[in-house]
Amino acid sequence: MTLRIIAGGANPALALKVADALGTGLVGAGIVRFPDGEIHVELAESVRGGDVYLLQPTTPPIAEHLHELLFLADAARRAGARRVTAVVPYFAYARQDRRATGREAVGGRVVADLLAAAHADRVVAVDLHETALEGFFPFPLEHLTSVPALADTLGALAPDREVVVAPDAGATKLAERYGRCLKLPVAFVHKRRVSGESVTTHGIAGDVRGRRALIVDDMISTAGTIAGAVAVLLEAGAAPDIVVAATHGLFVGPAVERLAPLPISRLVVTDTVGREPPPPLPGHVVSVAPLLATAIGCLHEERSLDRLILHA
Ligand code: R5P
Repeated sequence: MTLRIIAGGANPALALKVADALGTGLVGAGIVRFPDGEIHVELAESVRGGDVYLLQPTTPPIAEHLHELLFLADAARRAGARRVTAVVPYFAYARQDRRATGREAVGGRVVADLLAAAHADRVVAVDLHETALEGFFPFPLEHLTSVPALADTLGALAPDREVVVAPDAGATKLAERYGRCLKLPVAFVHKRRVSGESVTTHGIAGDVRGRRALIVDDMISTAGTIAGAVAVLLEAGAAPDIVVAATHGLFVGPAVERLAPLPISRLVVTDTVGREPPPPLPGHVVSVAPLLATAIGCLHEERSLDRLILHA
């Protein structure tokens, strides 16, 4: 089976880096919008018998990018690809993994069903909000982690950190992972989500007084979570010199205004979403291209992914 990589429209720069690292080109794909808003997808060359990897994070506009991914999977399958893997470095709807309050859709499950209906054989994702999402798929989901790469960068860029902070209970395991990589103790913020855009915080567990903190999260969306954690840290007497690291930097809605006034000396994200940390924040971007390229190489050659995947 020949290795074929196809980029959707969400993050072509990342797809190109991955293809370069693997020494393959990208298979051309025409993705156009019809006048009524329909998406039309057509592959520009044959993928018959190929081992196809579709690289498409489902970043905003999420519905558009998700549809592109589904249509690319369908196009590849109908064009005779032998295996179709959806590489979705940022996987939207991962936060909708259960009914929290009642009459809600479980969005993560619906997206998993859509990918199966579009004939994907496998999904590769990076630092999912919820690891249990794997159970929604009727085929393998390979859950990669960028934590070692981010921790390496943080060790070099901010070697003076004294405590890792989880900004909510959901980030506890993630913070412990960073703590192990950086050999730092961990503290936890008590957060409650009020709405999609706002959160409240209720204190912190762990010793942060006088310490230089590193806040870690899987994603920054509106930055309410980070702003809440910074406020709690300052109230608890942490040093007003805070480093923030997250895998997925979406920076939507009020994120920029929320982050700008905070005493953040470094904001480190990966390029899963393809957005730079907004100026004037002192940002740094770590590419997940080497991680994705290594994972795709292993999958293509049927070698173990053990070193790259997230062990719960
Ligand atoms: C939720 O629990 C996630 O881990 C993030 O903390 C959250 O989604 C970030 O969203 P926002 O930046 O809008 O607070």
